[in-house]
Amino acid sequence: MRVLLVGSGGREHALAWRLTQSPNLTDLWVAGGNAGTAQLAENLPVSPEDVEGVVGTAQSHDIDLVVVGPEVPLALGLADRLGAEGIPVFGPSQAAARLESSKSYARQIMSGAGVPSPVYRVFHESGPAVEYVQAVGAPVVVKADGLAAGKGAVVCSTVEDACLVVRDCMEQGVFGPAGRTVVIEECLGGSEVSLFAFCDGEHLSNPVAAGDYKRARDGDLGPNTGGMGSITPPTGWSTADSAMAMDLVMRPTVDAMAERGTPFRGVLYAGLMVTESGPRVLEFNCRFGDPETQVILPLLVSDPIEVMKACVEGRLAELPVEWSREARVGVVMASGGYPDHYETGFEIRGLDAGLPHTQVFHAGTRWAGDGTNAPVVTSGGRVLTVVGAGDTVEVARERAYQRVQAIDFQGAFWRTDIGAAPTGELAQ
Ligand code: AMP
Ligand code: GLY
Repeated sequence: MRVLLVGSGGREHALAWRLTQSPNLTDLWVAGGNAGTAQLAENLPVSPEDVEGVVGTAQSHDIDLVVVGPEVPLALGLADRLGAEGIPVFGPSQAAARLESSKSYARQIMSGAGVPSPVYRVFHESGPAVEYVQAVGAPVVVKADGLAAGKGAVVCSTVEDACLVVRDCMEQGVFGPAGRTVVIEECLGGSEVSLFAFCDGEHLSNPVAAGDYKRARDGDLGPNTGGMGSITPPTGWSTADSAMAMDLVMRPTVDAMAERGTPFRGVLYAGLMVTESGPRVLEFNCRFGDPETQVILPLLVSDPIEVMKACVEGRLAELPVEWSREARVGVVMASGGYPDHYETGFEIRGLDAGLPHTQVFHAGTRWAGDGTNAPVVTSGGRVLTVVGAGDTVEVARERAYQRVQAIDFQGAFWRTDIGAAPTGELAQ
């Protein structure tokens, strides 16, 4: 199989690494990529968000399967365009990707399917939204309806803050068209779990769960980020919990999408808040998580290409998807200043200092010159995910941090409590 992977982050380095282990792979190209994927595949200078560019690349390289990492190309209809050209693609259609690209649509699907959710209301104008916030009080969560690079959900601890966010979204247009509609939600407390399952439009695979540490600083303090670390299994979450969430959340959602004529094919990712009364859905995503992928893909025992092909061809029921029961801890090393302003171009030292039971996945990295002899330098906010493996989270955590100690770049920072504290415990 000649495979084209779309995306440039840590998630895509992990996908590239797992794909290159498949006996079904003959060649791998990456639309975008980073210095890590360049060691495994050929990076092509086509933007993951350039739909026609990706379609043209898939055609010119005679691609058998396109694997889409990020949400934006899916929301732009990349899977539909590839499908129209007869190119198999792992990732949902634009209509099915609305589960992620419109939070009000996702809430509507969940309400119709009886999926446990926070109390919520959708607003198209700021006046009624502000009145609602004043009536329900704080804490309350204000969300821009559309995609906003992970910044569109704001947990507000005061009514004043919430009104400000509503006005920023709906009157000032800080998120552009994505913020013209807002969803206002009850603020849930608990710990957060990311649940993933492959889906072929009808059938779901065995799930795998992970935890994502979203805040920048130890103790879940500081601003929200794209994710500063990940663990599997999540603290206090069992395979029985995953099975229950499959019945309560994933199954009814996939059925509802199929009934609407927009079957979901790809990987369905439910962001759950584990409350005292059970799990409730914070959001759906239509793709793998980042940095969760870096800890879950090493646990995928089944052949990734077989699984993805089965999703595309509606044959998932024939193929048991197996996950190993080991633990993984992933620590994100970020550029000083992230998630706000940061500088790039700093040499990364210690990448070759291999340590057993560890792996380093690149995100914001590039080769400073031609060829793989040139130094690797930073090129983004989240630079690396350093993963430790073990039978338990404690052992995996110890190994991940040992490897982190051996890596260095100017301004590097990371959280020191990944795997030591539950995810999102203080997020309210
Ligand atoms: P989302 O983009 O919807 O996943 O939201 C990003 C983050 O905001 C989540 O990971 C939670 O930490 C927080 N969040 C979102 N919705 C809620 C909610 N209803 N209650 C409490 N926290 C929430
Ligand atoms: N880990 C959060 C996300 O991928 O959206």
